[in-house]
This record gives sequence, C-alpha cells and structure tokens, in this order.
Amino acid sequence: MAQRYYIVGNWKMNGMRTALPEARAIDRAAQRLPKVEVAVAPPVTLIAAMREAVENIGIGAQTCHSAEKGAHTGDLSAAMLRESGVEFVIVGHSERRADHGETDAMVKARAEAVQAAGMGVIVCVGESEAQRDAGEAEQVVARQLAASLPGSADRLSVAYEPVWAIGTGRVPSIEDIAAMHKRLRSALAQAYGEAGAAVRILYGGSVNGNNAADLLSVAEVGGALVGGASLTADAFVPILAAAA
Ligand code: G3H
Repeated sequence: MAQRYYIVGNWKMNGMRTALPEARAIDRAAQRLPKVEVAVAPPVTLIAAMREAVENIGIGAQTCHSAEKGAHTGDLSAAMLRESGVEFVIVGHSERRADHGETDAMVKARAEAVQAAGMGVIVCVGESEAQRDAGEAEQVVARQLAASLPGSADRLSVAYEPVWAIGTGRVPSIEDIAAMHKRLRSALAQAYGEAGAAVRILYGGSVNGNNAADLLSVAEVGGALVGGASLTADAFVPILAAAA
C-alpha cells in the first residue's frame, strides 16, 4: 500500500496530566518514524496540554455532538473541538453506541458535522460476538457502515472494531479480517465511487506490539485504532515500529 499506515491511539477515559510524558515519548518515536502517520485521541481535558506537548502526532477527540450549539448539557460541538486543538474526531465507537445509545443516524450526523468543521473523521463499526457466531458479521457491519457513513468521503477513515475483540486480547483470524475489510472496501466504493478508494480502513481490537505486523499486512488494512496498548509509549511504540 502506497499510503502511510495510520495508527491512532484512543485513550478513552484514561489519562491525567501525569500521562503527558507518555505523549511526549510517543511524539519522539513518531518523529523517528516518518513513514507512519501517528495520532492520539486523549480525553478532552488533556487536549490543550497535549497540543503544547507534541509536534509530530495528530490529536483527536473521541466523540462530538452533531449540532453547532444549543441546549445539550455536557456535549461539545465539532467547532468547539477544533478550536480546542484537535484535527480529527472518532465517531460511533461501540462504547458510545452502547453507553450513550448512539444510533447509525446519529453517527452519520456527527461525522458530517466533523467534516463541516474541516476535520478528519473516523467512523467506527463492528459486530457483536453473537452476530459473529451467527455468521452474520459481514452483513451486519456492511449495513451499519452504509447507515453511518457521511455523505462525503472527505478526510474520512473507517475503523472496523469487532466488539468482542475490544480489550479482550482476542482478535479475529487473519482470514476473517481480510474478508471483512474487502467487504468494507466494496461498500465504500458503492457509497462514494472512486473516492471510496482513498478512505483508510483501520482495524481495531486488541492490537499490540506482537500482533500488529500480522494485522497490518492484511490487504485493505490501512492502519489500526488502538486502545489499551496506546496508553504508554512502551506499549504503543512497538506498534508504530511495526507499521514503519
Ligand atoms: O478504540 C480502540 C478500540 O476500542 C480497541 O481497544 O485496543 O483496548 O482492544 P483495545
């Protein structure tokens, strides 16, 4: 693949200011690995401090509201996040879908709001274990993707994250990942025509320094969305090295 791998750390609800040295160490590693595009999505409370602390990695947010402003207590608009210093936003993570009832329609609206604010967006999709066991994974995920995608492929990435692989140490077989990513690629072509070919499809779910090289070698895997193993430089940098 000619494109650089895109490796994104999703810190979820982890990280106080004491975690900034980890961000600096990740940033130094990214400087040594120019062939990899590296980014971290810290909690919102760390965005400003991380902006000061790093130079070589992208900074993102983990969700946003689709409205520009208004009576939405506790929410943040895409423009607010952009002003706070992020360049991209993750939308539709399965933890947001499960914990906050985010539907495909909400995810699509959020993705479009992020694009309208001039930022990159990562749309997450993935099947449950029951859906995988029932042999429905590809149909379910393709349907979820079609309903969650924004109208434009502008600065869009997709993250395939099987829910049962998140934080469990379990990953799908290489064959299953290859089949799913192929299916997602054709869904993107259907949605966007030629522009769909430029959309990066990331794999997420228990990626670590030991399995990253194998996972990234799968056709149509353009990078990784990493949770637990992105929280420290010791765990994250080997993944970046595998992508270099
Ligand atoms: O957004 C990241 C994913 O949910 C993966 O998390 O690497 O801890 O399994 P994990």
